[in-house]
Amino acid sequence: MTAQRLDGRKLAKTIENDLAPKVAALTREIGRPPRLVVVLVGDVAASASYVKSKAAAAKRVGITADVFSIQESTTTAELVSTVEAIGRDEHGPADGILVQLPLPDHVDARAVLDAVPPDRDVDGFHPVNAGLLSQGRPHFIPCTAAGVQKMLLDAGVKTRGKHAVIVGRSDIVGKPLALLLASRGPGGDATVSVCHSHTSNLKEVTQQADILIAAVGIPQLITADMVKPGAVVIDVGINRISDGGTSRLVGDVDYDPVADVAEAVSPVPGGVGPLTVAMLLENTFSAAKERKKRSFMAE
Ligand code: GUN
Repeated sequence: MTAQRLDGRKLAKTIENDLAPKVAALTREIGRPPRLVVVLVGDVAASASYVKSKAAAAKRVGITADVFSIQESTTTAELVSTVEAIGRDEHGPADGILVQLPLPDHVDARAVLDAVPPDRDVDGFHPVNAGLLSQGRPHFIPCTAAGVQKMLLDAGVKTRGKHAVIVGRSDIVGKPLALLLASRGPGGDATVSVCHSHTSNLKEVTQQADILIAAVGIPQLITADMVKPGAVVIDVGINRISDGGTSRLVGDVDYDPVADVAEAVSPVPGGVGPLTVAMLLENTFSAAKERKKRSFMAE
């Protein structure tokens, strides 16, 4: 069997095409484009590249994206006060604020993320947004988790009553995705298992998955023998490996052999990555729209 390739680029393009006229209409209403402020700390090449993609996608749909590049040697206190100042619009109107992760080890990432006002937290990482999601009344949903659910919905994958196994328990992907897939309604109602580094006999669990999601950051961890025939496999990993003299991107899934067993597999690159960016654009548009509503009510 050769699995269906779940094309995230194509779906992201459709989402952008739907969003662009809505952004144009909002721009006319508020007299300026919605604006996303991205805080990028240090010079990790992968982070710089992700931020570049986010800014380019924002531009394509008419959202302004400004990147605040801050040196690696910054402190937690400095970063918190920078994010707070951005949140008070001291550097121009900031409808959405995103702090690119990872932050340097000496920085308390939680303190920095907590400084993003929840109503501009387009990453959905603030405890208020994490709490709302856990209670089944989501506001901003973390972009990668939302992108995975979108991919499943778009491909017509039934989640209700299915066993979804997530490998990885991060705050960014694994945890919010577990909540989404277990929530009531379309794209939810699944029975969810979350595996992690202490899961004994990982293969025994993954073999039971109707939907298998790898979000652990270990290159090609998921091999064909770990996948139930006919399963849908979503690869969230983006890992750079060196192959002889060159380097290339691979996911957490060993794509070719897994594609012989699975019904559908998302590739890396071109799978979940573009959807993460598309969900960020949707969240930023929503943040700007909600802000307009709040200012209208305050008049
Ligand atoms: N680093 C890796 N993924 C993400 C993400 O979704 N948001 C942010 N801010 N940083 C990341």
